[in-house]
Amino acid sequence: MQLWHEMEREGMEELIFCHDPRRGLKAVIAIHSTALGPALGGCRYWTYASEEEAVRDAIKLAKGMTYKSAVSGLPYGGGKAVVWDVPAELFTHPGEARPNIHLAFGKGKQNTGHPANIIKDKETLDGLDKGSGMGMGMSSTNNLQACRRAETFRSLGRYLARLNGRYVTGLDLGTTVADMDQIRLETVHVTDTTGSLGAQDDFTAEMTAYGVYTGIVTSLRHQGIDALQGISIAVQGLGKVGYALCRYLHAAGARLIVADVVPERVQRALVQFSGAISADPAHIHAADCKVFAPCALGCVLTPATVEELRCSIVAGAANNQLSHRELVVRRMQARGILYAPDYVLNAGGIISTAYELEGAGPDLIRQKVAGIAGTLSKVYTIAEQTALSTADAADQLAEAVLQSAKP
Ligand code: NAI
Repeated sequence: MQLWHEMEREGMEELIFCHDPRRGLKAVIAIHSTALGPALGGCRYWTYASEEEAVRDAIKLAKGMTYKSAVSGLPYGGGKAVVWDVPAELFTHPGEARPNIHLAFGKGKQNTGHPANIIKDKETLDGLDKGSGMGMGMSSTNNLQACRRAETFRSLGRYLARLNGRYVTGLDLGTTVADMDQIRLETVHVTDTTGSLGAQDDFTAEMTAYGVYTGIVTSLRHQGIDALQGISIAVQGLGKVGYALCRYLHAAGARLIVADVVPERVQRALVQFSGAISADPAHIHAADCKVFAPCALGCVLTPATVEELRCSIVAGAANNQLSHRELVVRRMQARGILYAPDYVLNAGGIISTAYELEGAGPDLIRQKVAGIAGTLSKVYTIAEQTALSTADAADQLAEAVLQSAKP
């Protein structure tokens, strides 16, 4: 991989490689841009097939965060930390002493045996190996893994501390509030720690869903439809965001078509949302509906699936919905399907984090998330005035904001 070439191509400011074998840390911190403010973006804990894949992922995700914050008018840049979930044995150097982590479960208000509760005190790992004294119903192997993980994230915290706030991290795929709490032991530049709004998983997902709902209403208005009553909307994925979105849509009178690969989630939705019907998860994109809302995986809009769409609006929460960006976007445009760019629509989570950092509470955050309507309208206006696709119009808007910030 030609790193500098890649950085130049993507406009990256900085890549920081972290390597702390004793604490199982192999990570890359990608700071894409600080033109608008400190780089903001979560920390992903993932298994990668190669170093190249991990670095590419970090770069792509960090750049995405820059655009998401810029288009949303937030005073933050874009960054991401990617921690490579490397099996512990690969990190143990032969003959090397184990880190001397001391544990004291039984302190603090919540004594769950969770790594967040690890405090330097009392027992050692050696004691744990012998299964001594935990009394928490967890196996010593689990405790050992929890300790290793805690050390890994605390080590990452030390690297983050050196950045003096140029990058602020938080939750992302594979990371937990407990991981953020470990980072917090070393630096204040971390969100989603215990007690924060962001640590309440439902709050962030709720805000993301609310933003998507707002965007669907805006998109329908753009096509001359003022009320959701009786409008059929296909929601793919009934996880945290998809389910909350269904709640908003159902309350507004929409007719729901739902799909998930987990049958219980579908059943729950069918019971909860009167009039809802289910669809095959693999074919819900082709449902006869007004709006298709992808809220599961990325890359659902491919050259093949785009030909099968029967909706007139695509507006959902999933990140990176376009498998072949130019091709898919052009086909949607040619077929008269309005595409609500994913990073504009699903910005509710980052808006929520950014305003919580400024000290805002839930009511103000909700108001700010509602601003997604205005951003999306701007994107649609630019697209109409310039004949650009809505995806390109969103990029243009974000890039204009970034340009204006440059000295
Ligand atoms: P989640 O993991 O809670 O839910 C995803 C759901 O999709 C699960 O119920 C899963 O069973 C289902 N699913 C997986 N494959 C499927 C398939 N082929 N067809 C139908 N359903 C399938 O995730 P969450 O938090 O609800 O996020 C949904 C999407 O929104 C993801 O793409 C995520 O990256 C994106 N997003 C989420 C944000 C958040 O605040 N949670 C913020 C921004 C984007």
